[in-house]
Amino acid sequence: MTRLELDSVTKVFGDPDQDGVVAVDDLSIDVPDGDFLVLLGPSGCGKTTTLRMIGGLENPTDGEVKFDGTVVNDIKARNRDVAMVFQDFALYPHMTVGENLGFGLRREDNDMSDEQIETRVTEVAEMLEIEELVNNKPAQLSGGQKQRVALGRAIIREPRLFLFDEPLANLDASLRKTMRTEIDELQSEVGITSAYVTHNQEEALTIADRIAILDEGQLQQLGTPDEVFNEPANLFVAQFVGSPDMNLFDGTVSERDDAYRIEMDAVDFEIPKRLVDAEIETDDVLVGFRPQDLYQGANRPRDGPDIEADVRVVEPVGTEAIVHGSSFLGDVTAKVGDFHGIGSGDQLTVSIAPEHVYLFDATTEELLKGRLVTEREEGAVSTDGVEA
Ligand SMILES: Nc1ncnc2c1ncn2[C@@H]1O[C@H](COP(=O)(O)OP(=O)(O)O)[C@@H](O)[C@H]1O
Ligand SMILES: [Mg+2]
Repeated sequence: MTRLELDSVTKVFGDPDQDGVVAVDDLSIDVPDGDFLVLLGPSGCGKTTTLRMIGGLENPTDGEVKFDGTVVNDIKARNRDVAMVFQDFALYPHMTVGENLGFGLRREDNDMSDEQIETRVTEVAEMLEIEELVNNKPAQLSGGQKQRVALGRAIIREPRLFLFDEPLANLDASLRKTMRTEIDELQSEVGITSAYVTHNQEEALTIADRIAILDEGQLQQLGTPDEVFNEPANLFVAQFVGSPDMNLFDGTVSERDDAYRIEMDAVDFEIPKRLVDAEIETDDVLVGFRPQDLYQGANRPRDGPDIEADVRVVEPVGTEAIVHGSSFLGDVTAKVGDFHGIGSGDQLTVSIAPEHVYLFDATTEELLKGRLVTEREEGAVSTDGVEA
């Protein structure tokens, strides 16, 4: 059981005094024992480099990596007792599944008997439901089965940490969803602290205890899936997390007695001050709406702005539809439930409840007001908008 800390960790490739690449920039993250951390961000933001520094495959230029409070910077990868699972499964082709699973246990410094190893291999194979395949060679396995064996090799030793680098990226969509649920279950079952890299926000929101969102090597936010969805620290996080993309419009804000008045082109509406945590001291804001927070017809909140749109495209997704339209504010995307009868060329009026509106400072792009979860909504909203 291990608490993992990154303390002001920086990694520069090349010469720091010349034009070195700052892959990770002063990153501090504290992962409690047993937690599932997801490192999320666009390609090139420093996720893999961070994971490799945790695993000991890369040395930080600056800062400390700690396991249970002890600095491990000088400890070699093979002595850190971490298990890594990568995108390419890297099984030994000439060994059977059983031999692949047991390989880590047969190392010289291990004093387990052949019988004990056999028992453990069977246990893990059963846990991953691949017990029928133990005598097969990797070439005889499907992609999903291979990835299960790779996972099995990681968990068989009960390491201090699991490190995953986009382990599901090569699998097709439906298998990816099944496997991510299995990884999630497996991790909570064995309770081993984990760091998991992905650029897929949906995967991050479903699997993480906490998500660290990186951009250009810098931490943008560290929070639970609910926190990063409802209270994104800044515009970058708001645009990276959630699907379909958030609608964003320029607006101005002015103060009333007990409310902020928001103006966007031809519409205005009020946000009661009790819905805003801190004083808003700027005039220019970016106003954000999640597509799933826009309602139409009789469900339309009366205290929000009415936005009239000409429907361009309706994309049905099961019982809901994503509607793309053009409005006086610009393009608008809504995710609506009762979409039958709405078609391209129609006029649609949508509105949003003031508590669901996001406000960002137009200059700093920092969050001024997040999405409040209120009694107006039925049921939980944490995964609302996560399933595309
Ligand atoms: N070995 C390396 N040498 C030079 N630059 C590297 C090396 N590894 C990564 N980088 C650079 O560091 C940055 C972060 O890379 P990486 O950690 O792989 O990002 P991610 O995993 O988020 O896609 C990128 O600009 C990448 O080009
Ligand atoms: Mg990577």
